[in-house]
Amino acid sequence: MKEQLTNFIAAHGLEIDAALRRWLPLSDRVGAEPLNDALQYSLFPGGKRLRPVLTLIGTKLVGGNVQKALPAACAIEFLHTSSLIFDDLPAMDDADLRRGRPTVHKVYGESMALLAALALFNQAYALLARTAAQNGSLTLVEQLMHEATQCLGANGVIGGQAVDLASMSVAPEDMASRNLKTTALMRLTMTAGAIASGASEADVKALARFGECLGLAYQVCDDLLDELGDSTFTGKPAWQDARHLRPTFVAELGLHGAQKLAMTLAEEGRATLLARFRTRPETNLLIEAMERVIGDVAQQNLLAESVA
Ligand code: IPE
Ligand code: IPE
Ligand code: MG
Ligand code: MG
Ligand code: MG
Repeated sequence: MKEQLTNFIAAHGLEIDAALRRWLPLSDRVGAEPLNDALQYSLFPGGKRLRPVLTLIGTKLVGGNVQKALPAACAIEFLHTSSLIFDDLPAMDDADLRRGRPTVHKVYGESMALLAALALFNQAYALLARTAAQNGSLTLVEQLMHEATQCLGANGVIGGQAVDLASMSVAPEDMASRNLKTTALMRLTMTAGAIASGASEADVKALARFGECLGLAYQVCDDLLDELGDSTFTGKPAWQDARHLRPTFVAELGLHGAQKLAMTLAEEGRATLLARFRTRPETNLLIEAMERVIGDVAQQNLLAESVA
């Protein structure tokens, strides 16, 4: 089973990158070159590109066509990149490093960074609609637009970012709101291709729940990595959350508690998938993706030292 995810990425990574280049929302207006440069810089060479791969796997899991889902996969990577450009701005996390190099606003200025992030967000909706329209059903377009606006809006990524920025401490029962910044996009990552392919409600529901578990595990591990402070490994400034007094899982639960929560979420995600999809090859790919996310923390081998 192991390394099947690596094979899937090897099989689809190049076409994802080619599609990202094809649909990058460049301007053809004279004078808009700085915007285009900022867009190119934000996407290439890019980060792990895990989310578009997950969208394709989610599509295949429900019997959809991976080629037809490529625009949706690109939409997800554009949305993710857009959220990172916004997140790094001085008005938010004020970060000067991303993926091991200066953030977009450090190189192109805040105004171009804002416009590039908006251009990506705008293009994402067009690509999602295009994916769902391929089946000739307006219902699927409506369904996917509804899911996207829910996941991205005031009760999704945008609301989650607002909670994260506004609060210095959050009651444990309200942590879910803060974590919408990551869980809601991961939910859309898992459901977009499936909804566009006309998957059943039960299939979409299981993928949505898996996405939420994966997104939460992702954020727990991101909080841990931030606290562990290895900027070379993360490619981001260390201790950003502590600097801003952010209500992270580490602050709420401690290193050990946060790590335990990540394991529990991984198990819940796995159980959700197995209950609905049993041992289809794509189920194993998604379980491997979850293990990889958790493994990023374990691989650091710093946790044991920090809690010793
Ligand atoms: C970073 O996500 C933002 C969080 C949700 C924690 P990734 O670590 O997946 O970012 P890239 O795309 O690989 O840089
Ligand atoms: C990640 O929040 C979620 C979004 C960017 C929407 P963080 O602020 O923790 O992400 P990093 O650590 O800067 O990647
Ligand atoms: Mg942030
Ligand atoms: Mg940040
Ligand atoms: Mg973080």
